Amino acid sequence: MCTKQNELIGNVAAIVRSRLANQGAGHGYDHIQRVWQTARNLQQKSGGDLLVIELGALLHDIGDAKFHGGEERSKEYSMEILQQLGVDEVTMNHVCAIVDNISFRKRESAETLSLEGQVVQDADRLDALGAIGIVRTIEFGAAFGQPFYAPNDASQKTGVGHFHEKLFKLRDLMNTAAGRQLAKERETFMRSFISQFERECAGQC
Ligand code: ADP
Ligand code: NI
Repeated sequence: MCTKQNELIGNVAAIVRSRLANQGAGHGYDHIQRVWQTARNLQQKSGGDLLVIELGALLHDIGDAKFHGGEERSKEYSMEILQQLGVDEVTMNHVCAIVDNISFRKRESAETLSLEGQVVQDADRLDALGAIGIVRTIEFGAAFGQPFYAPNDASQKTGVGHFHEKLFKLRDLMNTAAGRQLAKERETFMRSFISQFERECAGQC
């Protein structure tokens, strides 16, 4: 990538970092940094335009609905930021289409993703899996008052329930072969964690 593109990425990263400074619950800048790095790693194996992938990864949660009164504003904010930085229209529209269509929530109604969108989506989903995925689920529960485990109350929403309702489905939804392989490894780790956790809770080890 040329110096100008690197400069652009650096500027976008700085804006995202300052905008997300006060967000926790698994959605802080640390999440963005991991998705950004994972997206770069996946791009090396799967291809796709690196600039679009990096911008998509950096901006994908910039206006997450959870932090904006239930209204998803990532596309709108991305457009503002990229326009302000003088990004060309083709790149801007491509990045905005990615940001607007990668969420799990939108999967039924999303537009078909470009290769770049598929890479960013895989990177985002991978961050919900593995050791990081376990920690983020616990952080989410702590922030929203949900227990991680409630063996005596089947009606209670829990973190462990979230593993089964959403996270263990992600592997089959991965777009790229490299993403699927990583998802498989991360899911195996989570299943092993849950087995040990349940054995310990039941006093079996
Ligand atoms: P992203 O937008 O980055 O894909 P989400 O906003 O869906 O992620 O969720 C952020 C983190 O919180 C993820 O790790 C996710 O698995 C976790 N999470 C989301 N919903 C729940 C829930 N109902 N219970 C526990 N964890 C959750
Ligand atoms: Ni995300």
